[in-house]
Amino acid sequence: MSKLRALDENLNLTNKRIILRVDLNVPIQEGMVTDKSRINKLIPIIKELVNKKAKIILISHLGRPKGKIDEKLSLKPIKPILENLLNSKVYFSDKSYGSIVVEKSKKIKSGEVLLLENIRFNKEEEENQAIFAKELSKAGDIYINEAFSCSHRAHSSVSEITKYINSYAGKLLSEEVKAINMLTNKPEKPVSCIIGGSKISTKINILTNLAKKMQNIIIVGAMANNFIKYQGYNIGKSLFEKNQENLLKDIVEKCKINNCNLVIPEDVIVAKDHKSKGQLKTLDKIDNNDLILDIGKETIKKIYKIIDKSKTILWNGPAGYFEIDKFSYGSNKIAKKITENTKNKSLISVAGGGDTVAAINKFGCSDGFSYISTAGGAFLELLEGKILPGIKALEINE
Ligand code: 3PG
Repeated sequence: MSKLRALDENLNLTNKRIILRVDLNVPIQEGMVTDKSRINKLIPIIKELVNKKAKIILISHLGRPKGKIDEKLSLKPIKPILENLLNSKVYFSDKSYGSIVVEKSKKIKSGEVLLLENIRFNKEEEENQAIFAKELSKAGDIYINEAFSCSHRAHSSVSEITKYINSYAGKLLSEEVKAINMLTNKPEKPVSCIIGGSKISTKINILTNLAKKMQNIIIVGAMANNFIKYQGYNIGKSLFEKNQENLLKDIVEKCKINNCNLVIPEDVIVAKDHKSKGQLKTLDKIDNNDLILDIGKETIKKIYKIIDKSKTILWNGPAGYFEIDKFSYGSNKIAKKITENTKNKSLISVAGGGDTVAAINKFGCSDGFSYISTAGGAFLELLEGKILPGIKALEINE
């Protein structure tokens, strides 16, 4: 595992222009930010730079505007939120690169913050274009990447820019990479993972990689439906992914070869539709009109036992349709059990992925995990063992 380049804590940053690549890709509905977790996490980092009297230039993307200006994806609504949380004025630039931005970056006073418009309004960003990256770099003296969640993108403001300016891994990014790498490199054993989600094909490489490293893999959520069906049970109208038998077979075999215990639900909560009352059933009792929407009591008991035996645990993907309270029991129980063991039994627990984080927040367990990653794709790609361009660019070549 290579080390990441970190900024010297004692470096005098007075008047230094710091380009901070952040991920302000937050959910916005009718101009209102509906989840501020990503912004909240960044505030202490920005405040530290403010206190060091640096000039802070924030670069971020929002959504996927595909290189065109899209007012709905403007970062303008983020400015008042930042001002409120930082308790100071934040300047906003409609342009995100070019001489105007360079001028503005020089004009702001030390300790002030300049937020640039959505970097993906420029098509060159996603093309990882060199000339564009060089232009971007002129807005700063130092570049810091605090956007782990988009470090799997080979984009100009994440990857190419590092060739033209002194570049460093931010503290949050380094922490996140360390926590995720620990899971697959040297976790305290036994190590177990709880994996959910709907598409088995998107997680096949992760499961294959984890099968070699984990002692237990517990499959939950809609993904488990594939395994239940593969075992020959009726899954009624439940969500599943067609034509994945070879992938499923492969995962089962990989687990066997690597002595990894593959666990799938043995009972489930079914309903005729999302509005109906849930009913507990064993797998052999599921009928054609049933929709599997949560895991059952026996499965929860089994998961508890595994969590109790584990020293390290990874959770990615809720156990059921947690957004609806009556089908959130399984996910709630998992979140609470991991929290309890993390607090009382020094379990090392890492969770990640949008839905999982939303579930953890819903159940009030956000302070119950050793590490919670707000990254989606980047979290999964690192677990797969992939090289992330934004991280690679910040590695120290020894
Ligand atoms: C995320 O939300 O996972 C990151 O901001 C990356 O966004 P992207 O998938 O649009 O690149």
